[in-house]
Amino acid sequence: MSLPVYARYRAAFAGAIAEALGMPASDVEPQVKPAEPAHGDLSFATFALAKAQKKAPPAIAAALAQQVKVPGLEVKAVGPYLNARFTLLPFTAETIDTVRTEGLSFGGGDEGRGKTVVIDYSSPNIAKPIAFHHIRSTVIGHCIANLYRALGWRVEGINYLGDWGKQFGLVAVGFHEYGDPARKDDMAHLVEVYVKANARAEQEPEFDARAREFFRSMEAGDVAALELWKQFRETSLRNFERVYARLGIHFEHIEGESFYQGRMEPVVEEVGQRVGVKESQGALIVDLPYAENEPPILLKKADGSTLYVTRDLAAAVDRHERFQFEKSLYVVATDQALHFKQFFRVLNALGWPFASKLTHVNFGRVHGMSTRKGTLVLLDDALDQARELALEKVRQNIQEGRIQTRDAEALAEQIGLGAIIFGDLKHNRTSDYTFDWEEALSFEGHTGPYLQYAHARTCSVLQKSGGAPKAYDASLLTLPEEQALLRELVRLPMAVRDAAEQYEPSLVARLLLDVAAAFSRYFTAGNQDRDKRVLVEDEALRAARLVLTDATRITLAAGLTLLGIPTPESM
Ligand code: ARG
Repeated sequence: MSLPVYARYRAAFAGAIAEALGMPASDVEPQVKPAEPAHGDLSFATFALAKAQKKAPPAIAAALAQQVKVPGLEVKAVGPYLNARFTLLPFTAETIDTVRTEGLSFGGGDEGRGKTVVIDYSSPNIAKPIAFHHIRSTVIGHCIANLYRALGWRVEGINYLGDWGKQFGLVAVGFHEYGDPARKDDMAHLVEVYVKANARAEQEPEFDARAREFFRSMEAGDVAALELWKQFRETSLRNFERVYARLGIHFEHIEGESFYQGRMEPVVEEVGQRVGVKESQGALIVDLPYAENEPPILLKKADGSTLYVTRDLAAAVDRHERFQFEKSLYVVATDQALHFKQFFRVLNALGWPFASKLTHVNFGRVHGMSTRKGTLVLLDDALDQARELALEKVRQNIQEGRIQTRDAEALAEQIGLGAIIFGDLKHNRTSDYTFDWEEALSFEGHTGPYLQYAHARTCSVLQKSGGAPKAYDASLLTLPEEQALLRELVRLPMAVRDAAEQYEPSLVARLLLDVAAAFSRYFTAGNQDRDKRVLVEDEALRAARLVLTDATRITLAAGLTLLGIPTPESM
């Protein structure tokens, strides 16, 4: 695959400047930035050069303007800047043809070929209520997996279920007291039991001790205890899998903390030999200098049972052995920053070079994501609530003649997903935000349904006209709104790369909003009657505009798919 259009022009512009200056292109390229739209598409600031050469910046820019010649770029000095603008041709044709040739893989590439990224995401806890952070981890992790896959990486997505640990003992002893044996396969019931048992354990140390003892017996291989655990685990998993199917998520591996049962001893020993361990009140802790108030890193409790960090250490080593990864990402809430800091610190202290390839891809908190029925209990609840609210909207829109669909329920499911996923991904990963159902489901503004609607609109124009023709004349796309739209489409490959590098899906989310806004300005400008802009009398012009509409459709569909959002063709 060749360099994306924008990157190619940028490299050519930087190369020509470098040649004029007798400098290496690699020094110039990072200095070429997108220009202010009024000034063109690419810009090179001459301040640093001016300082080095002791000349006035405008003089340098003017001199460069004489020398720098790149086919397809109109180069001009504007004050201290050397600016370049894509000429109508070949830029228009190149952009459109790239989008159409690549189709839904537009935005991707193959620079990741031969490299592996491990992505630990979603990772809910069995038989425990889900929390906002599982939704965020699922949605963000899925998008990051899509981005890397699109760039040619081998992606090993791992759902690291919280299926081991004392909480499980709580469910087990709780079930004995509060459980209904006939409802062993009802996740909601297990969660109810957990909540009661947890509350009781906080009151009654004796009850808490029983829970701990239960987990200890699991670790000791007690057959009956493990049998019960297995049943509960399966119940939870079935519930989670329904949700993953709705979201279109497929994990390469579903292996939780229990995967490492009985396999932690080697790591504990390594830590003992190479870093040092010591006993503290019967527990085994890593012997490292700790900061004031920093809790020590516990590898084993006094009763010999293992901990979250012990399992994460074993898992990291195992993943490295199995996948030989270039990167290993943990998509987990910022709340666990200390855990990851300490866990990475132990790996570093062990002197394992792969330690530097691990990243905690942290994210902030969400407020307000509760449902009409109350707080979220199951992962399903948020999706159900979204579908329910979307269905009201869909019905209302059908009544008012704004949308048409044969299957309101199916469309509502898609719009509900669009609302939740986009409502999350449009925010900077690390910031906290408040989720507002009304806002997220709106068909206007910065929302998933708005983007889905824009995409459906491109589909409907194309449908009405029998589709976009193969041959067209790109030189007819001269309107400023057409050129502005093309300049958004051409940015998808960059947004994908930046988003992957920074683990920041919002960069793609925001680009799609820009695409939809530019399309809507183009589509509606100048006349009220909707499809008139594209479906004009002049056949050649109509063909060119249909092709541009098709390129917009593809870009929106490719981008939404990367975010994990369904793209209904009519709504
Ligand atoms: N199950 C954990 C929780 O719900 C998240 C696990 C994250 N992944 C990891 N390797 N620690 O908090």
